[in-house]
Amino acid sequence: MISIKSKAEIELMRESNRIVAEVLEQLEKMIKPGISTWKLNKKAEEIIVENSAESGFKGYSTDGLTPYKFSICASINDEIVHGYSSKEKILRDGDIISIDVGVIKNNFYGDGARTFAVGTISEENRNLLRITELALIKAIEQCIINNRIGDISAVIEKTAKENGFYVADGLTGHGIGRELHELPIVYNFGKKGTGPRLFEGMTIAIEPMFNIGTSKVREKEWVFYTADNSCSAHFENTVLIQKDGPEILTKRGVT
Ligand code: MF3
Ligand code: CO
Repeated sequence: MISIKSKAEIELMRESNRIVAEVLEQLEKMIKPGISTWKLNKKAEEIIVENSAESGFKGYSTDGLTPYKFSICASINDEIVHGYSSKEKILRDGDIISIDVGVIKNNFYGDGARTFAVGTISEENRNLLRITELALIKAIEQCIINNRIGDISAVIEKTAKENGFYVADGLTGHGIGRELHELPIVYNFGKKGTGPRLFEGMTIAIEPMFNIGTSKVREKEWVFYTADNSCSAHFENTVLIQKDGPEILTKRGVT
C-alpha cells in the first residue's frame, strides 16, 4: 500500500525534512581535512535535539543486523551507504563523503543525503558528484501526477550510463512517511511507463547512488562498498507529489 498524506500530514513531513536540510547545511560547513566523522555525527545529534526531533536512523534495525548506532550515515570514497562514524575516521584532502540524515518528529520521517568534496578532489570525482546530483534533479523533474515510478528510475539509469558511471546494485529509494521505508520502491534503473503511478499527496525519497568502476557491491555488516573500491556518490531528496509540480521537502525554506 502506498500511503497518501493529508494536508496536515504534509505539514509534518515538511517540518521533519526541513530539519534534515538544516543538518546537511550545517555539516557541509564542517567538512574539511582533519575532522572526524564522529564529530559530524555529534553535531547532527545536537541539531536534531535542538529541533525537538529524534534520529530516524539510530536504533533502526533490519535483516538480523544489530540496530544502527549512528544518527547520520557518513560514507567515504568507496563506501556507498551506511558508513559508520568514528573518532578514527578522519577526513583527508581529496576524499568524498556522503552524509545521509534521517529524522523523525511528530511520527513522520525526513530523509536526505548529499555527497561533499573534502578539500580539492580529482576531476573524476568532481564529475561523479555532478552527474549523481544531476540524476536526482532529472528524477525530480519526472515527479508529475500520473507519471510512473519507472519514469524516475529510467532517467536515473540513463544519466549514469550516458556519463560512464554505474548504478549501485540492490540499493533503492523508497516511499516515506510514518515509516522510513514505505512503498513504492524507487529503483535507480528501469523502464519508462512502468511501475506505480504518481498521485497527489505521495511522498518519496529518491536516492541515486553512482559508482565509478562497477555496479557490483560488497557488504560488511551495515556498510555497502563498491566491489572494486572505486568511489561512489549519493544524493537524496524527499519529494512531495502535488498538482503544481514536485516540492522538494529536504530544503531549508525562506526563513
Ligand atoms: N537513506 C538511507 C535509506 O533510506 C539510510 C538508511 S540508514 C539506516 O536506506 F540506518 F537507517 F538504515
Ligand atoms: Co533513504
